[in-house]
Amino acid sequence: MTSSEIRKKYLEFFEKRGHKIIPSSSLIPEKDATTLFTGSGMQPLLPYLLGESHPGGKRLVNSQKCFRAEDIEEVGDNRHTTFFEMLGNWSLGDYFKAEQLPWFFEFLTDEVGLDPKRLYVTVFAGDKKNGIPKDEESSAIWKKLFQEKGIEVKEVELVTLARGGEFGMQGGRIFYYDAKKNWWSRTGAPEKMPANEPGGPDSEVFYDFHPELGEKCLMSGFGTFCHPNCDCGRFMEIGNSVFMEYLKKEDGSFEKLKQRNVDFGGGLERITAALGNDSDIFQIDIFKPLILELVSLSGKRYEDSAHQKSFRVIADHVRAATFMLADGVLPSHNDRGYILRRLIRRALRHLNRIEVSGEHLEILSKSVIKIYADQYPGLARSENGILSALREEEARFKKTLASGLRYVHGMTELQNISGKIISGADAFILFSTYGFPIEMTEEIAKEKGMTVDIKGFKSEMEKHQDISRAGAEKKFGGHGLYLKTGEVTIRDQSEVEKVTRLHTATHLLHQALRQTLGPEVRQNGSDITVERTRFDFNFPRKLTPEEVKSVEKLVNEKIKEDLPVSFVELPKAEAEKTGALFFFTAKYGDTVKVYYIGKDLNSAWSKEFCGGPHVAHTAEIGAFKISKEEAVASGLRRIRGIVEP
Ligand code: ALA
Repeated sequence: MTSSEIRKKYLEFFEKRGHKIIPSSSLIPEKDATTLFTGSGMQPLLPYLLGESHPGGKRLVNSQKCFRAEDIEEVGDNRHTTFFEMLGNWSLGDYFKAEQLPWFFEFLTDEVGLDPKRLYVTVFAGDKKNGIPKDEESSAIWKKLFQEKGIEVKEVELVTLARGGEFGMQGGRIFYYDAKKNWWSRTGAPEKMPANEPGGPDSEVFYDFHPELGEKCLMSGFGTFCHPNCDCGRFMEIGNSVFMEYLKKEDGSFEKLKQRNVDFGGGLERITAALGNDSDIFQIDIFKPLILELVSLSGKRYEDSAHQKSFRVIADHVRAATFMLADGVLPSHNDRGYILRRLIRRALRHLNRIEVSGEHLEILSKSVIKIYADQYPGLARSENGILSALREEEARFKKTLASGLRYVHGMTELQNISGKIISGADAFILFSTYGFPIEMTEEIAKEKGMTVDIKGFKSEMEKHQDISRAGAEKKFGGHGLYLKTGEVTIRDQSEVEKVTRLHTATHLLHQALRQTLGPEVRQNGSDITVERTRFDFNFPRKLTPEEVKSVEKLVNEKIKEDLPVSFVELPKAEAEKTGALFFFTAKYGDTVKVYYIGKDLNSAWSKEFCGGPHVAHTAEIGAFKISKEEAVASGLRRIRGIVEP
């Protein structure tokens, strides 16, 4: 059965049971500012779960486009995706457990034909602290349902994940777990919920892909024995019925909501995988064409463990990016746009890994649009916009991806001698010069058996932000924008980029002044903010308007030539011999970096002692403008300059 058929059957099944089919909401939440993306079918329905009346009535059903940024890093295994479709049905103060569990069971077994012997269910073990009882009612309903199918039922109290690994299945069919596993709210377990947040106990259904394993896990390392919530990949959760009947109060305790709701969510892709009895979600009808296309483009085998992760990451990320673009997200430096940029750039890097050129991103996205032509005709309507956005982002990243990877390569060669850490400074150069999201650097490091000095990266960011102090106090907020360590937040990447562009422009300005006015021009200090560069230099008189114009023109010529920007690290004495400019009152260490703009160090048009970072190619600077020329003191002039996109 194809995913489309399953989706259709599900909607019809619940329509027959009095549900109104409602459309999928956008991936950009309208009524919910707590997350960047719609990550669950209930999010657009929150007001109705809290009591407002819905125009469609008290029984609703749909298939909702969802995106979970927190799963980005997990993509690559057999079952995690960032984008997915959630089949959802809701009772808004109408039916409850006695209807919901039998309906879902009927749908799975009689309607689409899953073998009930492969199904295992979990229920809530209770939460004494918060006065929420054990869900014996759900357990009793499940017991009856399985028995009606001639399946013997044993209830097992595993309660915690650790106990699951220790005691295993024990011949059980129904498993009790605590609030870490069997409680659902938008923010997780009861203690993680803010005041006025609704939530409740839930009951999950799992499909066993490997009954032949008995008590054993699919992979070692997850405990002595396997159990439904084990992470080995043997069991896959395919649906979750949340009995949303509680509200957290200001004082931290729980009270009953005005109405008892059912909030059900089932993974369309996972149910499809279960029906195909293949635990690899990337083999279902939606992903298969993408994987096959990648096989033929790359000439590599999907089964090859060296490439499988790349195939999966690309397929997932292209699909997610296509849907995001269709819903109006554009790659950018912050919030949703940053997540989208991460997806596209990560997909491009993995294309690069399997030796497929980045331009194929568009072809793959076209396939996604085709695969979903019937269910999401909106994708085709936005096709031009989607493809051109992908093309632009690809062009933007193409230049720096290869040079960034070369930079990593050079660095790892050195690291073989000195340790296995990518320094904060290097990670920062990869971020600011080459546009590598920090998470991508971490991923590359991991592949090479290295780690990234995130603390060092953070302090480089801070140093840089000191430079750009005048910038707005804007910070990324939550929702996967926090770096994995949880302790680091990064400021809007656009500020870093802007300052980086201004920094390289300042080097060009310095050289342009010397070429126009004479080599006696000496830097006397500079200061760069997000808005502008300020450059002080020794010169005895005011510049004529013509001189200002020709300095500006020269800088812009060098930008247009799109010269590469590189650096070498040299002992100080040798660095001086290169003829690089240095700021004579500054203190330098024993070795210094010489940044040069031009093809090679010898012929470079500009050379300076400098810590960086800089853009990789001058064209990235955009247009340079001198906004002011003035005196600071006798013999000391000041130029302010800005860059425009
Ligand atoms: N809202 C529930 C979930 O996301 C169904 O799992």
